[in-house]
Amino acid sequence: MTAIHPSILSADFANLAAELTRIPSADAVHVDVMDNHFVPNLTIGLPVVEAIRRVTHLPLDIHLMIEDADRWAPQYAQAGAESVTFHVEAAAKPAQVARDLRSNSAKSAMAVKPGTELEPHLGLLGELDMLLIMTVEPGFGGQSFIDEMLPKIAAARKASDDLGGRIAVQVDGGINAETIRRAAEAGADTFVAGSAVYAADDPDAAIADLRGLTGELR
Ligand code: DX5
Ligand code: ZN
Repeated sequence: MTAIHPSILSADFANLAAELTRIPSADAVHVDVMDNHFVPNLTIGLPVVEAIRRVTHLPLDIHLMIEDADRWAPQYAQAGAESVTFHVEAAAKPAQVARDLRSNSAKSAMAVKPGTELEPHLGLLGELDMLLIMTVEPGFGGQSFIDEMLPKIAAARKASDDLGGRIAVQVDGGINAETIRRAAEAGADTFVAGSAVYAADDPDAAIADLRGLTGELR
């Protein structure tokens, strides 16, 4: 099933509660947590995620772009996230992080940066509910989709299908009306979109447009 997860990185951070009411048809809210160490940008942390949890019924899809995922990821699960994505590059014991997320009632997801190969980490799939293939260098919204990631999306799709298709394949970065179809055809089913949703006059209409453009391939 196609899922559209708008990223509030492109929303008005001074008016998050209002911004969340503009995306009622979102399948989840994508929340980008950055620490200025794992990526060269700083956004929000646990207190703001807890505050967001209180003002929306939409599921929270937390994308951790922070060091020491081992320590922090479970706390985002405890804050009520539907899913928590950690970067494999930032986890000392990724399998344990994934297990900790599930034991705290969240879906577990692992992200790979554009320069990180997927294959060496496929052994973790049994512990995961979602794979995130980054289609830009993490850190900032509004960048261009890296087409060279299409084979990695296809590899993630195949790995998921080999296990019965249980694992969602998410893409994040540069997803818009021009790129979403390519990502869908490569095998993605879950699409993060920041600027393509929040730069639109009607963010909820933009979600519907993006969903339509995937052709609901799966
Ligand atoms: C980038 C973030 C993305 C970002 C995407 O590091 O992980 O979620 O919000 O923004 P767009 O859709 O504008 O590329
Ligand atoms: Zn993200």
